[in-house]
Amino acid sequence: MLLVDIDFCDLSTLDEIYAIERLCNPTPWERAWIEKDLSLESGLSCYLGAWRKKCLIGFGACKRQKKRLYIMNLAVHPDYRRKGIASQLLLALCEIGLTWEMKAVALDVREGNADAQSLYRAFGFRVVGRTRGYYNDGEDSYVMMTSLPLDLG
Ligand SMILES: CC(C)(COP(=O)(O)OP(=O)(O)OC[C@H]1O[C@@H](n2cnc3c(N)ncnc32)[C@H](O)[C@@H]1OP(=O)(O)O)[C@@H](O)C(=O)NCCC(=O)NCCS
Repeated sequence: MLLVDIDFCDLSTLDEIYAIERLCNPTPWERAWIEKDLSLESGLSCYLGAWRKKCLIGFGACKRQKKRLYIMNLAVHPDYRRKGIASQLLLALCEIGLTWEMKAVALDVREGNADAQSLYRAFGFRVVGRTRGYYNDGEDSYVMMTSLPLDLG
């Protein structure tokens, strides 16, 4: 496991987040969307970054969705995968959810993204639904969910 520094992102991190997003996502979010999220100080969403020697190597984003924490994005630079970085980010995002008094955490994951599904299953997430054509390229998503606090027993 590679320990990283996890902290909140702000606009100064925009370029690094966008670079990772383009490396990791087949249909990357637009830079302007990320910029808008990072500019809002609504307290409704939150971006966390994972830094290694002051270099951003992963990020996660979440928002409030009624009584649920919704994980909008999670990505780790390809050179740093399978070192526990997404796990550290996921745990930190869930801690945010607890401070927001959320009782559950949900996300959408590509039907064909077995790697990410394995990660989420390892943290107790289960498939609770499927959304047809959720992604811009037409791929379906699985909706995965678990309760908060996580049961890591
Ligand atoms: C999915 C992703 C975030 C995982 O990041 P990561 O830092 O490599 O994940 P971790 O090292 O914390 O993995 C923890 C566990 O998840 C599972 N897992 C993660 N990646 C896996 C893979 N490629 N194959 C199988 N299992 C995997 C394993 O159980 C792993 O534990 P192990 O390494 O001890 O076997 C990363 O591959 C990524 O950025 N992918 C592209 C973007 C993406 O798909 N994001 C998810 C959007 S919903």
